Amino acid sequence: MQAIDRDTYDVVPIGISRDGHWVLTDGDPRLLELTASQTPEVDADGTGVLVPLATTERGLTVLEPEQVPRSLGDVDVVFPLLHGPFGEDGTLQGMLELADIRYVGSGVFASAAGMDKHYMKVVFAAAGLPVGPYAVVTDAQWRRDKAAAMDAVGALTYPVFVKPARGGSSLGISKVTEPDGLEAAIVAAREHDRKVVVEQGVVGREIECAVLQGRDTDPPRTSEVGEVVVEEGHGHDFYDFEAKYLDDQGVVLSCPAKLPDHVAAEVRRLAAAAFEALGCEGLARVDCFYTDKGDIFVNEINTMPGFTPHSMYPQMWAASGLAYPELIDELVQLALDRPVGLR
Ligand SMILES: Nc1ncnc2c1ncn2[C@@H]1O[C@H](COP(=O)(O)OP(=O)(O)O)[C@@H](O)[C@H]1O
Ligand SMILES: [Mg+2]
Repeated sequence: MQAIDRDTYDVVPIGISRDGHWVLTDGDPRLLELTASQTPEVDADGTGVLVPLATTERGLTVLEPEQVPRSLGDVDVVFPLLHGPFGEDGTLQGMLELADIRYVGSGVFASAAGMDKHYMKVVFAAAGLPVGPYAVVTDAQWRRDKAAAMDAVGALTYPVFVKPARGGSSLGISKVTEPDGLEAAIVAAREHDRKVVVEQGVVGREIECAVLQGRDTDPPRTSEVGEVVVEEGHGHDFYDFEAKYLDDQGVVLSCPAKLPDHVAAEVRRLAAAAFEALGCEGLARVDCFYTDKGDIFVNEINTMPGFTPHSMYPQMWAASGLAYPELIDELVQLALDRPVGLR
C-alpha cells in the first residue's frame, strides 16, 4: 500500500475477515503493519464489497446498511496479497477466473500445487529438481493406523521437520529431534492441515531467489539470490513465525548472498526451473538449502511471497535494480497483458 504509485493507480483496498466477509478497509499502511505488539485484523462489520461472479460484469458493488448498493466502478486487476489456504492456494484465483477478472500472480493449478508441499515435491521431482527425502501422512492413514503412518517416517534420519502440507508462515511446523517427539508434532501440524509432510532436516544455509515472469514469450527473470540467517540467542530454532514477522533482531536478510558465483547461478537456474515446472505466472519466491557439502535442495516455492517492506521478495528485486514501485508496475502489467480464460 505504501509502495504503489497512487498517481497511476486507483487502489480499492479490500480486506477479508476471518468469516469470509469482503470489506472496504482504510488502507492506511500503518494500521496494517505487523509488529510484535500488533497483528491487525479486518473488521467484519465494515462496509461490504461484492465481487462480480459473471464474466459480463467487472464492477465492484459496495453494500452499506440501509443504503442503496452503489458501484465502485470496474476493476482492471486484482492483486491478491494473501497468504495461505483460501488466498494463495488457487481457490480465490478460481473465483476470479470464473468472473474473467485479471489478477496478479499464478493461476489455479500453480497456486494449488505451490501451496501443497506434497504435490509441489511430486512436480519438482518429476521435473528433475533436487528435493530432499520426505514422507506424507494423510488424514486417512493417520486415522486408520497411527503406528503404521509413523512407520513410513522411519526411513528418514532425525531431526525431521513436521509440517502441515498446505500451511505457510511456518505455522504448525516443528523440528523433531527424536522419534519420541513425532506423534505430538504430527498432532500439532494436523491443527492446520489434516495432511502432514515430514521432511528430513537439511543442515545448510537458506538461500532464496525471486522470480518474475518474463514479458510475452521471454523466460522467467531471476533476482540476485538472498540469504536468511536466523541468528542464535533469540530463541528461534529455525525460521519460525516469530522470526519471520515479529522479531526484528533475530534474523538477518542479506542480498546478494555471499556465495561462489556458480552456486548463485545454480540457485537462479533452479528457481526459474521450479517456476516453469509448476506453470507459475507473475511472481514466485523459490527457497533452497545449500549444504556444507555443496548440495542444493529446493525447499519450496511461494506463489505469493511475503510482500512487506521487510520481506525478501521486494528486497531481492531492489538489490537487483528493480525498485519496489516499479516491481508493482511490472506485476500489474503482466496481469493486464495476459488473456482471461485458459491460457
Ligand atoms: N527440511 C528442512 N531442513 C531444515 N530446515 C527446514 C526444513 N524444512 C523447513 N525448515 C525450516 O523451517 C522453515 C519453514 O519451513 P518451510 O518449508 O519454508 O515452510 P513455510 O511454507 O511455512 O515457509 C524454513 O525456512 C527453515 O528454516
Ligand atoms: Mg518457507
